[in-house]
Amino acid sequence: MQASFRTVVCLAAVLTAVAARADDLKIGLIAPFSGSETAGLEMDNGIKAFFKLHGDVVAGRKVIVISRDAPTPAPDVARRLAQELVTRDKVDVLAGHLFTPTAIAAGQVSTQSKTPMLIMNAATSGILAKFPYTARASFTVAQTTAPLARWVAKNGMKRVFTIVADYAPGIDSENAFQREFVEAGGTMTGSIRVPLDTIDFASYIRRIQDSETGGVFAFLPAPDQAKNFIKAFRDAGLDKKGVKLVVEGGMLQPQITATLDDDAIGIISSQHYSEDHQSQENMAFVEAYKSVSGNRIPTYISVGAFDAMNMLYKAVEAQAGKLDPVKSVEIWRNMKLESPRGPVSFDPQTRDIVQNIYIRRLERKNGILTNVEFETYDAVKDNGKQ
Ligand code: PHB
Repeated sequence: MQASFRTVVCLAAVLTAVAARADDLKIGLIAPFSGSETAGLEMDNGIKAFFKLHGDVVAGRKVIVISRDAPTPAPDVARRLAQELVTRDKVDVLAGHLFTPTAIAAGQVSTQSKTPMLIMNAATSGILAKFPYTARASFTVAQTTAPLARWVAKNGMKRVFTIVADYAPGIDSENAFQREFVEAGGTMTGSIRVPLDTIDFASYIRRIQDSETGGVFAFLPAPDQAKNFIKAFRDAGLDKKGVKLVVEGGMLQPQITATLDDDAIGIISSQHYSEDHQSQENMAFVEAYKSVSGNRIPTYISVGAFDAMNMLYKAVEAQAGKLDPVKSVEIWRNMKLESPRGPVSFDPQTRDIVQNIYIRRLERKNGILTNVEFETYDAVKDNGKQ
């Protein structure tokens, strides 16, 4: 089943490439289209929603997406795909990347070939520094985590344990949480980094119990990990014993909340986007997204793709149809956008995104478990490499 889906994606990509004309604007999209991650689909639907609202022609050039499947964080796969997209398919821009390691591998190809690249998710701090033709339309986990640590300290949690996935963004979130929480007067009761393939959390839950902590912060964004950890936390009765669970918002994306039940109501999280965000821009985006995706709910990954398209269109328009790598990056670092997530700008020094971070509570709204925003930290910069 997975293999045949992958074949369809690659075949579709080849057909698209064959059908492309010389003056088409070609986007090489690298993301997971197979396996348990749905990020490729979310990016693809984010792009389709953008086409629906803004058309698929910019400065006279038809926009074509050539999708390639990178189901895991494996950098060698992403490097080969990026090289093929640049040399064989002659894409104008590289894009996508759920995972930091694939963004880094493709970033190297972007640098060598001077191909502009727009990151739609990968969220480790500092990765743009080595790749001069890249910009990031998503977030960093340090950026989403730091305000949550401050909120937790302000709202009565004095002793917190952190549990994160053991790879670069997980370590960024652990560092950001601990730094901000301790600075705000909190005490750490312990921390664990778990391997990316961990599914059974029983032994980790025992260590959390033994620490007699008052709260737990978790960043375990892979869907199976998020579901299993939340379930193990509840099965151990930690919530009933008064231990509070707060999570980075990637753990409560709609595909995960759809599998949870009412016991999960009340979990606090932080993110830069919720489908429930109250604004005209978001209403238009959600409606367009649902109409192109068979009624799916957009995620922070979808909005990263939607905004990357906005950045791309603005750069192509400003260059009358061209996409020079140096000029494009110059445009992106000085750009301001009204995004479905709220106002967005960029740090001219680092090229990283500056945006509101929302504290949300999981509630049942119109029958659906929804992350409802209730407090905003305005214009937060990436603070991961302090
Ligand atoms: C990453 O690899 O940078 C990454 C992946 C999934 C997330 C966040 C960050 O939800």
